[in-house]
Amino acid sequence: MELSALQKNRLLYNPPLPDLLREVDRVRLVQKTGGKIPPEPLRKLFPKTFDAHPHALERGAGEKRPLRIGAVFSGGQASGGHNVLGGILHAILAIHPGSKLIGFLGGPEGIVKNEKKELTKDLIAAYMNQGGFDLIGTGRTKIETGEQLAAAFAACKENSLDALIVIGGDDSNTNAALLAEYFIENGCPTRVIGVPKTIDGDLRSPDIEVSFGFDSACKTYADIIGNIARDALSAKKYYHFIKLMGRSASHIALECALATHPNLALIGEERQTLSAIVGQIADLICRRSRAGKDYGVILVPEGLIEFIPEIRTLIASLNRHLADDPASAVEKLTQEEKTVFSRLGEKIQKQLLLDRDPHGNVTVSQIDTQVLLMDLVNKELKGRSDYKGKFSAQDHFLGYEGRSCFPTNFDASYGYALGHLAAIAARDHLTGVICAIQHLNEPPARWTLKAVPIVQLMRFETRKGKEKPVIQKALVDLQSKPYLEFAAMRKAWEMDDCYRYPGPIQFFGAPELTDAPPLTL
Ligand code: FBP
Repeated sequence: MELSALQKNRLLYNPPLPDLLREVDRVRLVQKTGGKIPPEPLRKLFPKTFDAHPHALERGAGEKRPLRIGAVFSGGQASGGHNVLGGILHAILAIHPGSKLIGFLGGPEGIVKNEKKELTKDLIAAYMNQGGFDLIGTGRTKIETGEQLAAAFAACKENSLDALIVIGGDDSNTNAALLAEYFIENGCPTRVIGVPKTIDGDLRSPDIEVSFGFDSACKTYADIIGNIARDALSAKKYYHFIKLMGRSASHIALECALATHPNLALIGEERQTLSAIVGQIADLICRRSRAGKDYGVILVPEGLIEFIPEIRTLIASLNRHLADDPASAVEKLTQEEKTVFSRLGEKIQKQLLLDRDPHGNVTVSQIDTQVLLMDLVNKELKGRSDYKGKFSAQDHFLGYEGRSCFPTNFDASYGYALGHLAAIAARDHLTGVICAIQHLNEPPARWTLKAVPIVQLMRFETRKGKEKPVIQKALVDLQSKPYLEFAAMRKAWEMDDCYRYPGPIQFFGAPELTDAPPLTL
């Protein structure tokens, strides 16, 4: 395989570490008091791992024993993943040179089937600071049946694992918590530790500021949005409707809006009705047209569709009926729901009926919300006698191209530090915890590190028609500083073309070019 010049160059990059992680045998995780108490009903499901108190990383001698650690990627790709593996390996070797890291192949299915490979120093060296998850692959299997749990137990036993590190998003970490509990209950000595991964930015808590992968994805999208905006400004003939990946929450759309200043950025959490959204876009187009501007850039979060109140109700009903009997799901809708459904057009209707993912989520990445809006806005404009402009629209979907790019320096360091922290949590016998790093908007040397009980992040939700304990997806907080800053600026972006061009991710040059954390931090 021929490596590009950038691939070779990135292999040489040494991600800076927080001070405490430079000597892993001289630090340990110490339990503190004062964490958030998880909802009491969760105690029944997690009797062994129900805990409020986080562990903080502090100076102090740690055990020096050889460790056998298993690691798995779970869910969608996110840049920085290979550095998590690198961080785990380098830390366990620093703890004891006889340690081993085993990577399970193809996601959680690899644990169930015990398909694995040893991740040696040489292998890891060939993947440091590179994008993707291709060293071991990933998948979305949910380990939940008795058989799957028993197979996971057997795999951990056969590999004599001290710990299993699950590198995943909200659903994968929910699974990690269930596995941790199951292992203790059934006498499996393997601990289970979570690492926050997802481009979506929706795995957050007071302790988890953001997941790795969010920064690289947003910077990739912001580059492209900036290029499209400049193209629109040059030719002045198209409206660009750009759908952005990110599942339910609009964190990616908000970050990209702050980075590029589009004419309009919809935020799902504002929970507008479909008519209000279409009206808002049409009003903007009319106003711009009167000013001689028949072009513009509109950002549409992929999860917007789930927040539109009437579609949200429709999806909840469809989820229930699909779980009972997929063939009669549409028939069973109420009259009101059928009216909403018919308004969406055949393509979106089919997309709403697609299989849910293994965790029960609607696959919003497959729904062309941007095309739906383009069509409805077109119809709306045709009905407005005062609109004399020319509406010509292009649709874009920015998603997969942001998940496997070379990690930004931020994600490279963040992933590497998370790997170290997960290894220390394994050495210190923690289980059912997720790694959390804070002060991420400062240089890595000043980051602080913790392990937080996963159960603290959980609540009950209806999935596939049943009440399940899940990690609550963190939505955009409409009172937060980043949102309020966006809200204060967006009026000016509507008419004046204030596009900001962030350009491609930079790896060389001044720190403000190479090391900037996400703007929303
Ligand atoms: P995770 O939550 O597993 O990190 O996945 C993120 C994501 O990229 C979402 O933004 C997107 O909706 C989804 O994965 C797409 O899934 P798939 O890769 O299965 O098409």
